[in-house]
Amino acid sequence: MVEELANSINKNIVLQVNHVTKQVKLDDKSLTILHGIDLEVNKGETLAIVGSSGSGKTTLLSLLAGLDLPSSGEIFLKQQPLHLFDEEQRSQVRAKYVGFIFQQFLLINSLTALENIMVPAELAQIKQARSLALKLLADVGLSERGDHFPSQLSGGEQQRVAIARAFITQPDILFADEPTGNLDSKTGEHITDLLFQLNQQFGTTLVLVTHDQKLAQRCQRIIEMDSGNLMRDSAINHLTSNLA
Ligand SMILES: Nc1ncnc2c1ncn2[C@@H]1O[C@H](COP(=O)(O)OP(=O)(O)OP(=O)(O)O)[C@@H](O)[C@H]1O
Ligand SMILES: [Mg+2]
Repeated sequence: MVEELANSINKNIVLQVNHVTKQVKLDDKSLTILHGIDLEVNKGETLAIVGSSGSGKTTLLSLLAGLDLPSSGEIFLKQQPLHLFDEEQRSQVRAKYVGFIFQQFLLINSLTALENIMVPAELAQIKQARSLALKLLADVGLSERGDHFPSQLSGGEQQRVAIARAFITQPDILFADEPTGNLDSKTGEHITDLLFQLNQQFGTTLVLVTHDQKLAQRCQRIIEMDSGNLMRDSAINHLTSNLA
């Protein structure tokens, strides 16, 4: 009974971070960017990472997504020990479980919108890549623009293509760094609606870095970084205030 409970709790945790640090070498000195981060994220949760510029948000996000390795500590994504994996093993975990949206959309300029959306599905050898991409293109309101190249799309439209691309493999967890960063507020709001709509539709866990208070407030949980430390976790605050 206890074991069953422990198992079901474990399955509910998509990200488990234990005492993670990140150091980089600058000239002859070692600079610590992250100091002993502990974090757990549950399935389907929406989490915003906030904090001032240079506080370590993007660095943390890259570690959580398996794009980079911590200097010490453990990171389990879907029970996979990312901190023990080499680049090849981490890239397999990413292809299987992870979607990304970066501020600089990173679309491939020589491919059309539709082809860009299909890329991760083709890499994952999903057979219905084209029909899934067409459906997602419609979901993001760009049915008419499938044949257009990134240079023929506005910033907001490119961002919508990037979102459709991030969802095509139906990732368990989606990481977004400033997803509304360089969009006007109306487009930003539309993109945000879309993110949460897709989060609901696919049960995707959402971990996003943002300076946008409105976007952060829409998440179930907000964590705040300061100088490489995790300062405040609104869910923990909520829990302790309930216990008090
Ligand atoms: N490879 C690196 N070498 C040296 N310093 C680095 C490296 N990567 C990041 N840093 C430093 O680590 C700190 C955290 O950087 P990071 O990009 O994580 O900040 P951030 O919170 O995402 O900031 P912003 O809100 O401006 O995007 C910064 O001081 C940055 O200069
Ligand atoms: Mg950043």
